[in-house]
Parts: sequence; structure tokens; C-alpha cells
Amino acid sequence: MNEKQRKDALKRGISLEWPPEPILGSYYGEEEVEAIVKTVRASMDPRVGFGFICEEIWEFERAFAQWVGTEFCVSINGAGGGLDMAMMCLDLEPGDEVIVPSINFRASPLAVLGQRATPIFAEIDPKTLNLDPNDVERKVTPRTRAIVPTHMNGLSADMDALEEIGRRHPHPKYGPIPVIGDAARTLGATYKGTKVGKKGWMNIFSFHTQKMITTLGEGGAITTDDRDLATRLQGIRQFGNPAHSYDPKLRGIGWGSNYKMTKIQAAVGLVQIKRLDDLVARRQRLARARTAMLEGCPGLQLPYEPEGYESSFYLYTILVPKEWAGEKRDQLMTILKEQYKVECVVANPPVHNTVPYIAEHAPGQNLPISDEVGARIFCPPIHPYMPDEDNEYIAAAIWEAVLKLRD
Ligand SMILES: Cc1ncc(COP(=O)(O)O)c(C=O)c1O
Repeated sequence: MNEKQRKDALKRGISLEWPPEPILGSYYGEEEVEAIVKTVRASMDPRVGFGFICEEIWEFERAFAQWVGTEFCVSINGAGGGLDMAMMCLDLEPGDEVIVPSINFRASPLAVLGQRATPIFAEIDPKTLNLDPNDVERKVTPRTRAIVPTHMNGLSADMDALEEIGRRHPHPKYGPIPVIGDAARTLGATYKGTKVGKKGWMNIFSFHTQKMITTLGEGGAITTDDRDLATRLQGIRQFGNPAHSYDPKLRGIGWGSNYKMTKIQAAVGLVQIKRLDDLVARRQRLARARTAMLEGCPGLQLPYEPEGYESSFYLYTILVPKEWAGEKRDQLMTILKEQYKVECVVANPPVHNTVPYIAEHAPGQNLPISDEVGARIFCPPIHPYMPDEDNEYIAAAIWEAVLKLRD
């Protein structure tokens, strides 16, 4: 972007003060409203009601599994609960270890702690923000029960490399270490010709209101190709009741509680899935256009899509130069907010030392790369329905803020 283009974009202004992580990350229209009304009307019959593992749920699961390319999908009430369920399927014992990134949302380490095991933090690759397989390999021990990458901010983790490490270091009792993906932010991304959600033992998605699609603000899904796992997840989701599982003949399928999404959520989810290709394409187009506009802006590390990967750009992640880590990064964000009305989010600082519960229960972990990345990272707003002019304004504002801070 040259100086004139920047001046023009700034002069035009911005149509909306976009939240850094827009509260509605998807798009809702009349079709969603109609699906809600239709489902409510059909549920008013006392023989029908809102219950519970009903055709809408099965239909949504079939459509989601088909979109991702897996055999099975178990819909749930959110990715947080889904990560808890994933940890339950490992039958963890105190002393067991699960490897997670620290540049991460707090959900996966909390899920590990919730099952009384220990999260072991591995470093990320600062270019991709995803787990660095080399550091994962250094952190594997005979107590490692799972590797849980978070597909960070829209980009898939290197699943093949992580699965290979899992195979190379089998657990003495359980065999190859499984890889479980936290895909809460990364619906729609691709990895070596597969959609995120396909590689690994299972992947957990979120349909929270900020995510790529949303089932009325909350919801999620777990995808897998492992039938036994899908059956166990269905049991956990619905009080261990085989009647609501892939294998109704099983007498007991283990412990269970209630992690269901509702019938209305599933009905709306079916409409949202139809929008998914378009929502992802819109984010990609805006993000790649923004990267082209920011090319050459001094010192910034822009989002990176390695060969064979396509990001879904849940967030647009930038790193300031190393010399700007911390205070200067914060000053840049302040200039953007106060002088240009562009609010950014730090997504995410390292959780091993910034989330008190995690720091207290998984102490003594040394992650200099994650600490540094946490002090360099910032994410300006992106949304599938952001007008091109706003995207240009945001790029111009970043350029100007960087130049102001540099001079
Ligand atoms: C990476 C990641 N994992 C897990 C979650 C939890 O998802 P949910 O809100 O659906 O429980 C979120 C955020 O919402 C997230 O960003």
C-alpha cells in the first residue's frame, strides 16, 4: 500500500468500530430465523417436544461429518465440554501427562487438569503459532498420554509430524500416543488436501457465538473416524445410554452425563453449514488482500500459510518485531485504538504463566519462545462480512501506526 492509497483509505473512514474478535463471527439471516420458528412450532406437540437425540441432531451430525470428511460426528454443547470428554476417553490417572501449547486458549490445559493429569507445555513455531514438533518430541516421556495441538487462529497444526512422534514413542501400556486437535477456531481450514477435523484421533470444534459458524451462541462437535470412540463419546454425552449411540446393542457404554446441543441448535446448524464455504472464502479473501496491502510494512510478521495449508483466518495474527515485544506492541495497539478506532486483541498470551489456576497446578515450565511470542502478537479485527473499504482502512491504520511508532 503506498502513501496515497493509505491516505485515501483513512480519509474514507471505517463503517463500523469492529470488535477485535467480533461477537457474531458468522452470519445470520432469515433462513436461520425460519429454521428456529419451524422447529419450535413442530415441538409444541406434547408427543414431540424438544427432545433430544432427535432427527435434527442426527441430520446435523451427518452433514457436519460429510463437510469435514470424517465418518463420525458427535454434536455437543461446546468445545470446552468436548475437550473434557476427549480427556475422559483417555482414562487419565494422576501423573499422566498431556502435551499442549502455551500460546493457546486456556480450555485444553484446563481439561487436562480437570481429569487430574498434568499439562506439559511445548513451544510453538513463531511463524505458524502452532505446536513445534521438535519441542513436542523433547517433551514426550513414558507418561505422555496424548498430544493436543490447538489449530491456532485458523491454521492447522502439523498433524502428520505430531502423529509420527506419537507412533515413535508408544506409551508402555496404551501404545501410540494419540493426537487430539482443538479445532475450536479452525473450522474450514485445510491441511495437505484434508479439512481440519480429519487428521488425528479426534478433533473438537466450537460453535460459540464468535466462531466460524454458531448454533445460537453455544455448541460444538467432535469428529473422528474411530467408531468405538464415537460410541463412547455418545455415551458420555447422554448418560451412558446405548439407545442414543451408534451401537444400541451395547448394554453399558460407560459413564455419561449430559453434553448435548439442543434440537433448535441443530436445526440452525444445518442452515449454518450451508453458509460455511462462503463464510470461509470471505475470510480468506479479506485476509489475503490485507496481507498484500501490508506487504512491506516495516518489521511486521504477517500471517503465514505454509505449502499445503490453507488458513480459515478465524483471527488475523500479526507479530511485531522482537525489539518491540511488550511495551511497544502495547503502544501500537493503543495508537490503533485511540487514533484510528481499530481495537486489537492479544490472542493469546502464554497460558502457562498468565492463567493463575494453570500456573498454580502446572508450575515450573520454562517457555521462552512462547513468552516472547505472547509479547509480540496482536490481532486486528476480521469478519467475513467486513466491507473491502474497512479492510483497507485497517491496513492503512496499521501502516500509519507502525510508521508513527518507528519515527
Ligand atoms: C481454542 C479454543 N478452544 C476451546 C474453546 C472453548 O470453546 P467453547 O466456547 O465452545 O466451549 C475456545 C473458545 O471459545 C477456543 O478458542
